[in-house]
Amino acid sequence: MNLLNKSLLQTSAYINGQFVSTPKTFEIHNPYNGKTIAEVSDCGISETEQAIQAASKAFKVWRKYSAGKRARILKKWYQLQLNNLEDLALILTTEQGKPLAESKGEIKYGASFVEWFAEEARRIYGDTIPGHAGDKRIMTIKQPIGVVGAITPWNFPSAMITRKVAPALAAGCTVVIKPSELTPLSALALAVLAEEAGFPPGVFNIITTQDAPSVGNTMTSSPLIRKISFTGSTAVGKLLLKQSADTIKKVSLELGGNAPFIVFDDADIDKAVDGAIAAKYRNAGQTCICANRIFAQAGIYDTFINKFSSKVKELELGNGIDPQVIVGPMIEEKAIKFVEQVVEDAQGKGAEILTGGQRHGESQTLLYQPTVIGNATTDMEVFRKEIFGPVAPIFKFETEEEVIEMANDTNYGLASYFYGRDYARIWRVAEALEYGMVGINTGMISTTVAPFGGVKESGFGREGSKYGIDDYVEIKYMCWGGVE
Ligand code: SIN
Repeated sequence: MNLLNKSLLQTSAYINGQFVSTPKTFEIHNPYNGKTIAEVSDCGISETEQAIQAASKAFKVWRKYSAGKRARILKKWYQLQLNNLEDLALILTTEQGKPLAESKGEIKYGASFVEWFAEEARRIYGDTIPGHAGDKRIMTIKQPIGVVGAITPWNFPSAMITRKVAPALAAGCTVVIKPSELTPLSALALAVLAEEAGFPPGVFNIITTQDAPSVGNTMTSSPLIRKISFTGSTAVGKLLLKQSADTIKKVSLELGGNAPFIVFDDADIDKAVDGAIAAKYRNAGQTCICANRIFAQAGIYDTFINKFSSKVKELELGNGIDPQVIVGPMIEEKAIKFVEQVVEDAQGKGAEILTGGQRHGESQTLLYQPTVIGNATTDMEVFRKEIFGPVAPIFKFETEEEVIEMANDTNYGLASYFYGRDYARIWRVAEALEYGMVGINTGMISTTVAPFGGVKESGFGREGSKYGIDDYVEIKYMCWGGVE
């Protein structure tokens, strides 16, 4: 990798302010060409316990820093991320596959959480409450919850760390991060910059591992860890929640989605097409908020699918490093096999492949063609399952009631989208959708300033915005008596 700042490429875990190598390592591959990029420390239970101990010790110091002092270190970390934008994006694309422009976008997006929560650090206010008796006075303060275990995914290897860790650090918590075994290099690069920014040893720790179950279990069973924040699959989220029950930890879960994208007859069709492309093909369809099911109303169904398919045909597929590429490879063989299976299922049940529908080039490639499926129906797997790939099934509907019922007919409830102009319907539909987030006439909803999170089996807790810090603090109430 041709980095300007070579020190950003680290391969050892980061514990108590030191890069720590282990005798066992595992390989990291470039998903575009399968080449080995690095061999990374394979930590186990003992390194995880060391990191938890270090974080617990550091908590006693870090929580005492003034909010302003914590904010200044966070601001420095933010600035260092922007100063190293090109290198961080190159590391991200090389290990994850997304196009370089998207990686740069992710680094800026990720850094924006650090800037935001640096500012929020000074605004962790309590209340004064009128007392319940003449001699009583009541106050609340918010205190950091303690050591946080952050378990983060491969689809946003940088931003999902900063979105969890920045509010935690701003509140005065310390963190032990377990990045995905597929993309630990972006996490380690953030550690290099965290050290340069001046976080004291033990405040920020990274455990790289192939053995996610053991490390996860060590985190969830440790009484020293007071909070688990996880982004990933609903299945793993349920497991972590069960494991956290024994020590009654606070938990935030940002899990899977099955986002509806609805286009009503009165929508601006060209804008809806662009919004659907952005919501579907970003990161090769591998985001939890990707449009999973597109619903087009009968009056515009044909126009919508024709315009949508012809634009999707133009999306350039290939190596994320090439500037003209819009859709990169999928992350691993298992993921592309799943996409092949759901497309085959849809075809077998009468769907029409309007464009794409197969792997690109040789059989061992992880490139899957941007695909549009027409005549999709509710008995197909694409209706129920999170596709997590560049495949857009399009369903026809007649009425508002029918589409709301179909949109809500899922266990998930993360993101949803719709396009239309009738203002009364906009309110009705936005209120009726059982989702944590609703994009109205837009396919892009992610931003630092808004609360990101879901309902139902998509999880709970909110990340970003003024609410993002709430998950990392406890409210303490003080009742003062005898005030005569
Ligand atoms: C996710 O897929 O979990 C995150 C997507 C985003 O923040 O935009």
